[in-house]
Amino acid sequence: MIKVDVSNVISESEIAKYSDKVTKINKMINEKTGAGNDYLGWVDWPVEYDKEELERLLKDAKYVRDNFDVLVVAGIGGSYLGAKSALDALKGLKGKDKPEIIFIGQTFSPNYTAQVLKYLEDKKFAINVISKSGTTTETSIAFRLVKDLLERKVGKEASKKMIFAVTDKEKGALKTLCNKEGYSTYVLPGNIGGRYSVLTPVGLFPLAAAGVDVKAMLLGAKEAREEFDNDDLKNNKCYRYAVSRDYMYRHSHPVEMFVTYEPQMSQLSEWLKQLFGESEGKEKKGLLPTSATFSTDLHSLGQFIQDGSPILFETILNVLNPNEDVSIPSDELDLDGLNYLAGKKMSYVNQMAYQGTLKAHEEDGGVPCNIITLEKMDAKTLGYLYYFFMRACAMSAYLLEINPFNQPGVEIYKKNMFHLLGKKGY
Ligand code: PA5
Repeated sequence: MIKVDVSNVISESEIAKYSDKVTKINKMINEKTGAGNDYLGWVDWPVEYDKEELERLLKDAKYVRDNFDVLVVAGIGGSYLGAKSALDALKGLKGKDKPEIIFIGQTFSPNYTAQVLKYLEDKKFAINVISKSGTTTETSIAFRLVKDLLERKVGKEASKKMIFAVTDKEKGALKTLCNKEGYSTYVLPGNIGGRYSVLTPVGLFPLAAAGVDVKAMLLGAKEAREEFDNDDLKNNKCYRYAVSRDYMYRHSHPVEMFVTYEPQMSQLSEWLKQLFGESEGKEKKGLLPTSATFSTDLHSLGQFIQDGSPILFETILNVLNPNEDVSIPSDELDLDGLNYLAGKKMSYVNQMAYQGTLKAHEEDGGVPCNIITLEKMDAKTLGYLYYFFMRACAMSAYLLEINPFNQPGVEIYKKNMFHLLGKKGY
């Protein structure tokens, strides 16, 4: 489904040196024996997911699709980026589909929050609140605000049929509220952490409501699981990529830049930044994940990448066939000199920009580039891709001897903020 070329980053002989380590770690992942092993539920999720729950979810999602102008999705981090990235990648940035999906709770921004609330005033909207812990402050405040607006618009009783929650099976304030109010509730399994949860109801509810074929996504992930659960470093694309990252880290390239040529894939880069950053950035170790969208960023970061400090390598996601395309028109006067491109597709120009940039960065700039080539971007490919990266991330983090599934550093800002806000106990 995808091609992965790591040849510009690491040689076959260097890859082979990782063989013993990869064999050991792959066994650890399959047998769930490594650090953080109680968070490896995502490994078998594409075959073990709750089929009955999925059918219920699809029914509710259809109800939302058929009856509302807007679905407001409240969540942050792993409870936000999966759905947002998939929605953009599959539906584009300027879709006319109903319901419109609006995210909230991923920021404390008063401007953004007020704008969303104002926008919703005259819209028929439902709410999807997503929080594993049920206590995340950004999500909780946003949910309180939209719930209040909805209750004022339609009444408390009616609103209960318009609120859909994804949370822990048993624990947390949100779960308690769901039980009390009788909201339709879906489970984020206890053994799957937020940034590994895109293929659970966390991602699937909003995506299904938006009309995405979520069964195809799960199928893609299932194929990836079957393909990548082995230690064959000659053929396992996922582990070859993981090893190339480790090699870069150990050879003076501490920054990985995820590159796409599609603005609608820039949120996928955000998801990747969270996945790798939060999984690996511990104990003073880890690559810094960054991202760029070309050609936009060639006119801003391009100079640095070509000619600045040689600290980064690129991982490029190149989609060969776009879902939509336009042709460049001919112009009688040709004052802009573009008639040499008349009749050519934008996708052709984009691919030539990709090839020209790759040559410039690799050959002239000395920037090592991994290339991940996708025939097309559809739900199945995307499900496959999410699994590919999650598994690569687990392998990479274990190569660094780090627990990929905790995030102790994230708590420190929260403690300080709670203290400043006057929360009891802080
Ligand atoms: O990856 C993670 O675990 C985090 O990004 C969480 O998803 C994020 O903090 C939101 O947490 P919760 O779902 O508990 O509200």
